[in-house]
Amino acid sequence: MTDPAPAPASWLAVDTFLTDTLVGEDDALRAAVASLAAEGLPEIEVAPLNGKLLHLLARIAGARRVLEIGTLGAYSTIWLARALPEGGRVVTVEAEPHNAEVARRNLERAGVADRVEVRLGRGEDVLPTLTQEEPFDLVFIDADKESNTLYLDWAARLGRPGTVVVVDNVVRSGRVVKTDAGAQADGVRAGLRMLADDPRFDATALQTLDRKGWDGVALALVV
Ligand code: DHB
Ligand code: MG
Repeated sequence: MTDPAPAPASWLAVDTFLTDTLVGEDDALRAAVASLAAEGLPEIEVAPLNGKLLHLLARIAGARRVLEIGTLGAYSTIWLARALPEGGRVVTVEAEPHNAEVARRNLERAGVADRVEVRLGRGEDVLPTLTQEEPFDLVFIDADKESNTLYLDWAARLGRPGTVVVVDNVVRSGRVVKTDAGAQADGVRAGLRMLADDPRFDATALQTLDRKGWDGVALALVV
């Protein structure tokens, strides 16, 4: 007999097991998650296993400069900031003033505010101001999905050969393969198409099944 299809109860049990075994959140991370509901922000932070994945990718890449597009409450930002060596920096771009305020408080509480610059504004306005800075070693794209191609273009321009690019939410309960699933799904699909066709990138994607449901993450290298 074949195994039953994964049901929410079974994948949640595995998510809990893997998270408890391999991640282990501390008070600052738990407080950042709790702040979302308390402050009226959407509870769409990355799952703990994905936060740790970002953290490890940054360390594997030896990243000193990290760019995040879409801060929300800075849960993922804390994971990334904790991966930095001495003197490293995260620049995180957030369009919503209240989100940026909540994020700054969470970064303070986590003790990483000195390493993180929260830039308030839309990506299309803030990203062009970063061209004078040193290239970023890792870019995490987790904002309005309609703009994924714009953000990927900036990731390539603000990166260098070897820069790691991570794109969140590339599956969204399978909506990525539905052509009538709306502008966000269209944006996600266009971003994946760009990762395939644009010679500046080499990429893959992984499906994920965790407490946030059925989703996925794209991983790319700037070549
Ligand atoms: C959703 C999840 C996300 O991680 C995100 O960045 C945006 C939206 C969602 O589940 O709706
Ligand atoms: Mg996301």
